[in-house]
Amino acid sequence: MKNLFLKKTLADLTIEAFDGKHSLNRTLGPSSLVMLGVGVIIGAGIFVLTGHVAAEITGPGIVLSFIIAAIACAFAGLCYAEFSSMIPVSGSAYTYAYATLGQFVAWIVGWDLILEYALGATTVAIGWSGYLVSFLKDFGLIIPEVFTSPPLGYNPATHNWVLTGAVINFPAVCIVLILTAVIALGIKESATLNAIIVVLKVTIILAFIAAGAFFIKPELWQPFIPANTGHSGIFGWSGVMRGAGIIFFAYIGFDCVSTLAQEAKNPQKDMPVGIIGSLLVCTVLYVAVALVLTGVVHYSQLGGPAPFAVALDAMNLRVFSPLLKVGAIAGLTSVILVLLLGQTRIFFSMSRDHLLPPGFAKVHPRFRTPHVITIVTGVVTALLAGIFPMSIVGEMVSIGTLLAFVIVCAGVLTLRYTHPEVSRAFTAPGGNATPILGILTCLYLMFGLPQDTWVRLFVWLAIGLVIYFGYGIKRASRKSEGY
Ligand code: ALA
Repeated sequence: MKNLFLKKTLADLTIEAFDGKHSLNRTLGPSSLVMLGVGVIIGAGIFVLTGHVAAEITGPGIVLSFIIAAIACAFAGLCYAEFSSMIPVSGSAYTYAYATLGQFVAWIVGWDLILEYALGATTVAIGWSGYLVSFLKDFGLIIPEVFTSPPLGYNPATHNWVLTGAVINFPAVCIVLILTAVIALGIKESATLNAIIVVLKVTIILAFIAAGAFFIKPELWQPFIPANTGHSGIFGWSGVMRGAGIIFFAYIGFDCVSTLAQEAKNPQKDMPVGIIGSLLVCTVLYVAVALVLTGVVHYSQLGGPAPFAVALDAMNLRVFSPLLKVGAIAGLTSVILVLLLGQTRIFFSMSRDHLLPPGFAKVHPRFRTPHVITIVTGVVTALLAGIFPMSIVGEMVSIGTLLAFVIVCAGVLTLRYTHPEVSRAFTAPGGNATPILGILTCLYLMFGLPQDTWVRLFVWLAIGLVIYFGYGIKRASRKSEGY
């Protein structure tokens, strides 16, 4: 039982970071890290969700929702940056929790992060499949729907799962498996592929903003916050706040940068730059996109799966629609890539600590990647993407991520009291107000999510407890006793 509170010391972590048997290549500089951050942040949130939120929940006020969600992320991002500048090893919030709050909380965080990373990759892979199908349709290529939709559906009104008659979401399975192979081949290759994609998607978004600026009709922004319909959370200020909770999905991923600390050349300095830099770039792009979308077309028309295409139509630039879809497909690809990458690194740390089978942490002698866990992660994620509908997994991603943020903010606060002497290459400004506001804002966004999602979170955490007490705690204590 004493293992519940077993903590890693900072010395343990430093030894791990430089342990030859498990060493990963240190090749990432600050610009690669910002690129990876932007690569993983800009995805289904902006390309798919924005339209739905603007049309049904916020109107042009989505601009404010983006700013509010960014503020919540900024508090958490500053805490992540402080943590990663102190503890420069793989594993993200999992490792931080191990160092500050003990093994048990670390396991909970690691288990919870599966929701963010593996299910995040699952969600975006489903969105990817949707864009691919729509792109191919532009050229008359139709894949039968039974091979592009999930066999499982969920009816929120009756709370029942239903069989849809579809076989599998085949494109979603394929993209996950292809990217798994890329990750298994090498971190450098993954970063290079990501950089190419990021340039493409940011260029397309910038071109969209620049072209859209000429077509803005300011009267479409009136009223900026349409009057509430009488139902809380549908337009009005309550809509803006609820919109922030949903659009939070668009920012998920900046913390992924912290999972790569062990592959950064100079983690103490570069981690904060990677995290805060990518968050900043994305906030500016999101606000600009939201202004253009709601400025060129009435918000009520943005509700379909491809809001950018609706805006292009309104600008009489439909001919660029396929190009935009290519940008979206590429953009979603890099999100899946980095989320999968993050998941493998978290599992890598957990296996190295024997909370998961240690064989998972094997590093390939030539590629220097944790190939075993990469393959396991890829196959399971591909199956999930092939079977489940996007909305269900998407909400699980949001709640899981917010919970991790709450724990990280709490960890930063704890560490300031328990380890005030440890040097921090970066200290989150604002004193203790920053982690406290991080906790409060993330909890607030969590409470905006549906009750079903809360129930699923508790079920997931309960399964995690069974595995921890049935397996992890015993194996990890044998490791700490030197067996
Ligand atoms: N932020 C990521 C996206 O929007 C998860 O796809």
